[in-house]
Amino acid sequence: MSIAHYYETMEYGPAPEADGEARAWLKRHEATFGHFISGKFASPASGKHLATIEPATGKALAKIAQGVAADVEAAVGAARSAQAPWAKLGGHGRARHLYALARMLQRHARLFAVLEAIDNGKPIRETRDLDVPLAARHFLYHAGWAQLQEREFADFVPVGVIGQIIPWNFPLLMLAWKIAPALAAGNTVVLKPAEFTSLTALLFAELAAEAGLPPGVLNVVTGDGATGALLVENTGVDKIAFTGSTEVGRLIRQSTAGSGKSLTLELGGKSPFIVFEDADLDGAVEGVVDAIWFNQGQVCCAGSRLLLQEGIAETFRKRLIRRMETLRVGSPLDKAIDMGAVVAPVQLERIKALVETGVKEGAEKYQAPGALPPEGCFYPPTLLWNVHPSSTVAIEEIFGPVLVAMTFRTPDEAVMLANNTRYGLAASVWSETIGLALDIAPKLQAGVVWVNATNLFDASVGFGGYRESGFGREGGREGLFEYLKPKAWSGRKARAKLPPLPEAATESAGFGTPSIDRTAKLFVGGKQVRPDGNYSRSVLSPKGKRLGEAGEGNRKDIRNAVAAARSAEGWARATAHNRAQILYYLAENLSARGDEFARRIGDMTGVSPAKARAEVEASIERLFSYGAWADKYEGTIHAPPLRGVALAMHEPIGVVGVACPDEAPLLGFISLVAPLIAMGNRVVAVPSERHPLAATDFYQVLETSDVPAGVVNIVTGERDALAKVLAEHDDVDALWVFGSQEASTVAERLSVGNLKRTLVDHGLALDWYDRAASEGPILLRHAVQVKNIWIPYGD
Ligand code: NAI
Repeated sequence: MSIAHYYETMEYGPAPEADGEARAWLKRHEATFGHFISGKFASPASGKHLATIEPATGKALAKIAQGVAADVEAAVGAARSAQAPWAKLGGHGRARHLYALARMLQRHARLFAVLEAIDNGKPIRETRDLDVPLAARHFLYHAGWAQLQEREFADFVPVGVIGQIIPWNFPLLMLAWKIAPALAAGNTVVLKPAEFTSLTALLFAELAAEAGLPPGVLNVVTGDGATGALLVENTGVDKIAFTGSTEVGRLIRQSTAGSGKSLTLELGGKSPFIVFEDADLDGAVEGVVDAIWFNQGQVCCAGSRLLLQEGIAETFRKRLIRRMETLRVGSPLDKAIDMGAVVAPVQLERIKALVETGVKEGAEKYQAPGALPPEGCFYPPTLLWNVHPSSTVAIEEIFGPVLVAMTFRTPDEAVMLANNTRYGLAASVWSETIGLALDIAPKLQAGVVWVNATNLFDASVGFGGYRESGFGREGGREGLFEYLKPKAWSGRKARAKLPPLPEAATESAGFGTPSIDRTAKLFVGGKQVRPDGNYSRSVLSPKGKRLGEAGEGNRKDIRNAVAAARSAEGWARATAHNRAQILYYLAENLSARGDEFARRIGDMTGVSPAKARAEVEASIERLFSYGAWADKYEGTIHAPPLRGVALAMHEPIGVVGVACPDEAPLLGFISLVAPLIAMGNRVVAVPSERHPLAATDFYQVLETSDVPAGVVNIVTGERDALAKVLAEHDDVDALWVFGSQEASTVAERLSVGNLKRTLVDHGLALDWYDRAASEGPILLRHAVQVKNIWIPYGD
C-alpha cells in the first residue's frame, strides 16, 4: 500500500493502544478475584466465581467472586468498624486521603483506561479522555468538600455505612461518583460493581489500599443482582445509593421501605435532543454523535430521542446520515475508532430486538455502512426515522447506539413531546436564540438540561433525575447532602402513643336552644366541599366532649383534590415575590384570628391557654419565615471547568401529598405545608386525624389571603388510609408523612408506582418548636428538585 493510496482514500490505519500492563495485572491475580474487604482481597465464602468476557472478542477475561450473605456481612462489618474512626479523622484528614486517591488515579491513568476498555468494550479514547480524568476530578473536588465540611456543613453528620450498587456502563466513573462524596462526608462504603464490569473497581480498591486508605473505609463485594439484593437488605447498612435500571430501582425502593435506610436512585432515561430551526445545524449533528453514539449509547442520559423542528428535519436527516457514514466501529483499544463493543451478548440481543420492533411499528432504519469486526458484541450506529411518539422505541430505553427521530412544529409542541415520557433525566436544547433556549429549559421535566451541548458532566454540577429517572443528586453541593443527615434530627424519639379518647359524652340541651351544629367540609380547589361519601366524624375533646364534626374524606375526595392541585400549575410559575407576599398575608390573617385558633387548639388538645397561644404564635412566625425564604432559598451557579456556567435551579416538585402529625395540630400542619407552597408546589394535606379542626378553621384564612384555588387542598378523615391513597396516586409527585412508623413504611412501599420522592419520619417525633429541626432549609431541601442547566458560551 502506498502513501498516495492513503491520501486518496483518507482511510485510517489501526492505532492500537498497548495493553501489556493491564494484562500483566490480570495475570498477577491469575485473572481470578476475591472480594476486597478491610484493605485486602478475601476469598469468597461460597468459593463460587462468575466468569466475565471481553465484549470485543467474546473471549473469557476473568473470574469474579459471587458474593453471598457472609461476604456482604463481612464487608458491612468492616465498614461499620471503620466508620467512627474515619469520621473522627476530621475534614482535613479525609481531604488528604481523597487527594491521594485522585493522584493515584492520575498516576495509573493509562492502566485504568486500558483495563476499562478491555472489560467494558468502550473505546480507549473515551476511557482515556473522559472516564479516568473525570473520576480523578471527582476525588479532587470532593477532597475540597471534606476540607470545608466542618465549616460548610456544620449542622450535619455522616449517614454511616453506605451500600452502593453501580451499573456496567461507566464502571470506574460511577465508582467515583458514588464513593468520593460518601467518603468525603465521613461515611464508609460497601460497593457492589456490576457483574459484567468489576475489574476497575477491584483495581481501584487495591491501589487505594496501597495509597494508604485505611482498611474498611472502602470495601468491594462482587457478584450479580442477588449479591446487590443482599446488600440492600443488610440491616447494618444506613443508606443505599443505586444507579441502574428503573426496574431494579423499584425493587430497591420496595425492599428498603420502612427500614429507615435513606435512598438515592439514579435510573434510566429517554432523553430528548431538541433542535430548533435556528440552531447551528452542523454543531447539532456533532451533538447527536456525542449524545447517542458515545459509549455505544449505553448512557443513562443519552440523547436518544431526536426532536426536529419540521422546517429543518429533512436537511438535518441528510447531514446526519452523511456524518454516520464516517463513523467507525472497531476494537476498543484502537485509538482511532468512534464506537467500541456493546457490553454483553444479552445487551446486544436486546438492542436488536428493540430495533426490529421499531421497524415493525413503522420506523425507517438507517445504519452506518462501515464494516463491523467479525467477532464480539458490535452493533452499528443506527437512526430510526419517522418514529411515532407512541411507538415502543420512542418509549423504552434501548441503551444502545439507536437514535429515534420525530418532528415538531412549535416550541410548545417540542416541550410536550420532550416531556412525553415517564423519565426525566436529561435534555438537550439547540437554538442560536438564547431567549428561546432559556425559555424552554425550565419547561423540561429533566434534572439536567444542556443548552447547545450534550453529555457534559462535572463533579461540581449535580446530576440526577426527575420523575421515574429517580431521586437524589450526585455531584455539587446538592450531591453532598445525600451523604449527610441533619444533627437536629439525630435525637428524635419514637412518638408517644396518644391515650385513647373516651366515649363521646352525650349532652342534651334539654329544652334549651341547641347550638347550631357545624360540620367542617373539605377544602378542594379553593372551595369548601362536602365529602363524597357524605359521612363525617365527631371531633372530641380529651374529655370526650363533641367539639364538632369533620368530613370523612375518601379515595374519590383525594382524587378530586389531586386534580385540583394539578390544575393549579400556575403557582409553580408565580414569582417568588408573589408567593412570599401570600405567605405574609396568611400570617397576617392568622394573627387577626389568633384568639379563636388558640381556643380551638386548647379545646381539642387540652393544653393550657398559654400553650395554645404559643402554638398559634409559633405558626404565625413560621408562615413569616417561609414568606422570607420564598424569595431567598435560591439556586446556585456552578463553575465547571469549561467556558460556561451551570445554573443549579430550585424547581418545585409538583403536587405533594402531606400527612400531618397529631401533636401541635396547627403548627405541625403549617410547618409542613408552608415550605412546600413557598417553593411553588401544590399541596393535598391530610390534617391531624384526631384534632383536624385547626386545619379546617384555616380554610377561611386561605380564602382571605389570595392563595390561588387548588394550591392548598385539605382532606380530613382517616389519615393513614388517605395517605395510602396519596402514595398510590400517580399524579402525586412527592409524599411527606409525619405520623406512625407503619404509615411511613406504607408510604415508601406504595410510592414505587411513579417513584415519588418521600419524606417520612418513621414514627420519630420532631419538636415543631425547635427551629433548627423543623424550619428552613432542613425542609426546603425536600420541597425542591435541583435542575442543572448547562450554558456553555463562546464559539
Ligand atoms: P440492572 O439495573 O439490573 O443492574 C445495575 C446494578 O444493579 C448491577 O450492579 C446489578 O448487579 C445490580 N442489581 C441487579 N438486580 C438487583 C437487585 N434486585 N437488587 C440489588 N441490585 C441489583 O441493569 P442491567 O440488567 O445491567 O441492565 C438492564 C437495563 O437497565 C439496560 O438495558 C438499561 O436499559 C438499563 N440500565 C440503565 C442504567 C443507567 O445508568 N440508568 C445502567 C445500567 C442499565
